[in-house]
Amino acid sequence: MLKKRVWQILLATLLLSSLILTACGTAAPAEEEAMPAGDAAVEVFSWWTGGGEAAGLDAMIGIFNAEYAGTEFINAAVAGGAGTNARAVLATRLQSGDPPDSWQGHAGQELIGTYVAGGQIEPLNDLYEAEGWLAVMPETLIPLISDGGNIYSVPVNIHRANVLWYNPAVLEANGVAVPATVADWFTAMDTLQAAGVTPLALGEQWTQLHLLETVLLGSLGSDAYDGLWNGSTDWASAEVTAALADFEKVLTYTNADAASLSWQDAAQLVINGDAAFNVMGDWAEGYFRELGKEPTTDYGWAPVPGSVGVFQFLSDSFTLAVGAPHPEGAEAWLKVAGSKAGQEAFNPVKGSICARTDCDASLFGVYLQSAMDDWASNIVSGSLTHGVVANDSWKSEIDTALGLFVADPDVASFQAALVAACAASGPCQ
Ligand code: GAL
Repeated sequence: MLKKRVWQILLATLLLSSLILTACGTAAPAEEEAMPAGDAAVEVFSWWTGGGEAAGLDAMIGIFNAEYAGTEFINAAVAGGAGTNARAVLATRLQSGDPPDSWQGHAGQELIGTYVAGGQIEPLNDLYEAEGWLAVMPETLIPLISDGGNIYSVPVNIHRANVLWYNPAVLEANGVAVPATVADWFTAMDTLQAAGVTPLALGEQWTQLHLLETVLLGSLGSDAYDGLWNGSTDWASAEVTAALADFEKVLTYTNADAASLSWQDAAQLVINGDAAFNVMGDWAEGYFRELGKEPTTDYGWAPVPGSVGVFQFLSDSFTLAVGAPHPEGAEAWLKVAGSKAGQEAFNPVKGSICARTDCDASLFGVYLQSAMDDWASNIVSGSLTHGVVANDSWKSEIDTALGLFVADPDVASFQAALVAACAASGPCQ
């Protein structure tokens, strides 16, 4: 009898819970229908929040808004140069299944080794075909955004990493010529230091990694530099020891408060006449122009000493998330990012040249026109700091070794750590 009662209670409970579940089940679609076809939106994630970078993005958003007036553009940019903060936020969002529709990713190992390898982004072959992009994107770039026959992102630009910015008045006042070789650079910086001028402005750690990659390029030359990433240059070799010794010496010419300065702060030291040189990618040019500065009079530029004739490049590109909440909005955004109008609006302001090969050069200032000429004629090498040549784990091991070196400069242990990093995550495995 008691058993029968227990069964009755159990059955009643089961019935009740199934009713509740059914009710919830029917309620869900009703809620979905009630949502505005939410869809007319796109969330785009980047690290372009200021210093010339936001202005470039805004210009491209302007084109988007004109073409897709009914689609809300949600700008999910997270501040911090080179994406150091943004990429951490993005990783957390991707881990918790909350991807933005489209995000900024560097062409090369960053894109392929992280997002493609993680199954986080969709192939875009159909879009490339529909928009005819294969005919207008540089051939050098396509392999860096492709894997297994699929193309995974839309490049918006080409940036140059190995630029030496200088203050022409400071050089002139000290009788210093623009250096073309590493040896000339040291002589120039000795003169400046003796005159009480900070020779080289430097900022927080990622800008130090940026400086390291350009000094490696300048000291080793492009073949041996490329060999660091493809396994043909021995990280334990004497030529790498010499390049690291050059880097150690370069650091002795920098400001003591580097760790607390953003890339904009460091670039501004040059513009203000408080330092002679700064090594930074050409987004610095977008920043100088935003500050109202004039090319050639307020700032000059040259390849980082030792790297004349080499264009060390990187490319910002945009992706389509697997599980994008707004796939239609994302497609609309990618069409604008890959379009001539979008790239012509974005790049002259951002301080980069178009990824597309058909942009109108007359829209660009004198620095960017020189960058176009160099991109077309120079030897091309890839950037470490900005995702081209090494995957994220290798880059982060190099960055850790660099942090220790900057705190306590010792070339032998730095080199040993770099050898170990290549063995752990690079082609020396
Ligand atoms: C790079 C990025 C550039 C610029 C720079 C400084 O990684 O490719 O577009 O934003 O960081 O933030």
